[in-house]
Amino acid sequence: MRILAIESSCDETAAAVVENGRMICSSVVASQVEEHKLYGGVVPEIASRRHCEAINGVVKEALGRAGMCLDEADALAVTYAPGLIGALLVGVNFAKGLSMATGLPLIPVHHLRSHIAANYLGHQELKPPFLCLVVSGGHSHIVEVLDYTKMRVIGRTHDDAAGEAFDKAARAMGMPYPGGIHLDKAAESGDPEAFRLPRPRVSGSPYDFSFSGLKTAVINQIHNASQKGIELPVNDLSASFRKAVTDSLTDHFIRAAEDLGYDTLVLAGGVSANSLLRRRTAEECEKRGWHCYYPPLPLCGDNAAMVGAQGYYEYLSGNTAGSDLNARATLSIEL
Ligand code: KG4
Ligand code: ZN
Repeated sequence: MRILAIESSCDETAAAVVENGRMICSSVVASQVEEHKLYGGVVPEIASRRHCEAINGVVKEALGRAGMCLDEADALAVTYAPGLIGALLVGVNFAKGLSMATGLPLIPVHHLRSHIAANYLGHQELKPPFLCLVVSGGHSHIVEVLDYTKMRVIGRTHDDAAGEAFDKAARAMGMPYPGGIHLDKAAESGDPEAFRLPRPRVSGSPYDFSFSGLKTAVINQIHNASQKGIELPVNDLSASFRKAVTDSLTDHFIRAAEDLGYDTLVLAGGVSANSLLRRRTAEECEKRGWHCYYPPLPLCGDNAAMVGAQGYYEYLSGNTAGSDLNARATLSIEL
């Protein structure tokens, strides 16, 4: 079964063709990041306009690279939640139009579920059940993936998402948006013990996260230093911050797996591209004889191939939509 998938939840307009949820026939991503960089973050109104301009060409390109016409697809999948509402609406309405014109089934896909499914494209042997740490620009969850379409959230952030914390700390250090990747690179040559930063815990919720205090600690260090005319070593501060975030993520993730008896751990979302998070999770799993998976780097960020992968499993479980499908800015991954 070949699914034409569309993604427009934030600042990438993407389309892909995926076969049987596991094989990428084509994947096209048009990023708007250079334009949003000028403003230090995503400007929702600009994002919607750029999606409108790009979507037709991106979908045509995905079909062309897969060597097929629209009517050779077996179904359409589209990200409908969560995300920027104006951005999501572009993809949802485009997909509804294609579905009406062709009669192809329309599959609504939850954005975070698709991030998890990016792993099915990189690891053919991976099957639920497993425990997943979903860390993106907008979410930080520990999720029990009981089956392809059955999930339970057991840990969440109480304030900033991990990616948001990375971006805000990076911005305070003068790095361009989105700063997570720049901070990660700077950290590679820094000393993670150079700065003492908190390891926040949420009392009574051992699997939950809190990153805003950590981000504020970094911003305060930078402000105090600049008031004294001192320039802080960015590589050391990046390394210390990255270690603090990674300690918190991996400690809670491993503890949850131990408590609930999971021996397969999976990373997902934009922050799963972080080199220390990947190394640390792999090391902790290896020590315990557990399996560890994370998506191939090009599939960590937003793309439509992952939407095609999850769309396949949603279709198999009977999850299709009609022309009344609407976009939702927020929606639990549990549905
Ligand atoms: O999943 P994603 O592409 O978009 C959302 O659904 O939010 O995640 C984007 C987030 C951004 O905050 C970005 O800075 C972060 O992922 N990110 C990273 C790295 N690469 C991307 N954070 C830390 N280290 C990285 N290497
Ligand atoms: Zn995402």
